[in-house]
Amino acid sequence: MNILFVGDIFGSAGRRIVREHIGHVREAHHVELTIVNAENAAGGFGLTPQIAEDIFDMGADVLTMGNHVWDKKELIDYLNSAAPESVAGSHAGSATANSSSVSASVDRPRRVLRPANFPPGTPGYGVFEGTTASGVDYAVIQLQGRVFMTPIDDPFRTADALLAGIKAKVIVVDFHAEATSEKVAMGWYLDGRVTAVLGTHTHIPTADERILHNGTAFQTDVGMSGPYDSIIGVEKELVLHKFLTAMPGKFEAAKGNPKMCAALVTCDPTTGRASAIQRIMLGE
Ligand SMILES: [Fe+2]
Ligand SMILES: [Fe+2]
Repeated sequence: MNILFVGDIFGSAGRRIVREHIGHVREAHHVELTIVNAENAAGGFGLTPQIAEDIFDMGADVLTMGNHVWDKKELIDYLNSAAPESVAGSHAGSATANSSSVSASVDRPRRVLRPANFPPGTPGYGVFEGTTASGVDYAVIQLQGRVFMTPIDDPFRTADALLAGIKAKVIVVDFHAEATSEKVAMGWYLDGRVTAVLGTHTHIPTADERILHNGTAFQTDVGMSGPYDSIIGVEKELVLHKFLTAMPGKFEAAKGNPKMCAALVTCDPTTGRASAIQRIMLGE
């Protein structure tokens, strides 16, 4: 079974390059589960309900977010409109939607994840459990790191608690974190317990994709799907000005040299163990 994970979509250039490539990649590799990080999809900052719908229409099954999840206020209403657990799927694993039926599905807001270790009471969910078109149960979890980031709950113990309630064998974790050490640590911590631990947030793809000893696919950062003639997605002059003057300024999404960065994970759907991970970077 092949799983496609697309790294942080950044702005309109990112959406365009993902739209250009996601379909043929899914088709060529018979991808059964498609996960897309969309935290920067709306002009680099957050996600709007309309853009979420657009990305689902491109073939995504689950969207993950990150520290930018609250940048667009209207997303909170979207997340709060999620169907009740009993309908949309939950820890009970009752969701039955798949790629082909998602377009007609009402449970899309439930498929947009914010980090699971955000404080209790935060809108939205950090885990989604569903079933693929061919009947494979899966779970997607998003966690956020704490090193060089806003202090939140422990992502490691949050993972333990979530995994205790998940029956699916195929489990993909998006670990949204800044520090490579924390991301590598999470990989080893969850090795053998999940199918893949894939890093997001830094917008720079790392060349360390591998299968860990107990069958978990790992990559420190999948990389941004966005404009690479930029400083992690933002127009370079604006970021340079800030570094050179230490003055605040408005950041705008760059457009040049867009690439789609993704990881393709192959796993055994009966055990959830990964056998291969491939780094993907596709441009114009
Ligand atoms: Fe990001
Ligand atoms: Fe981020």
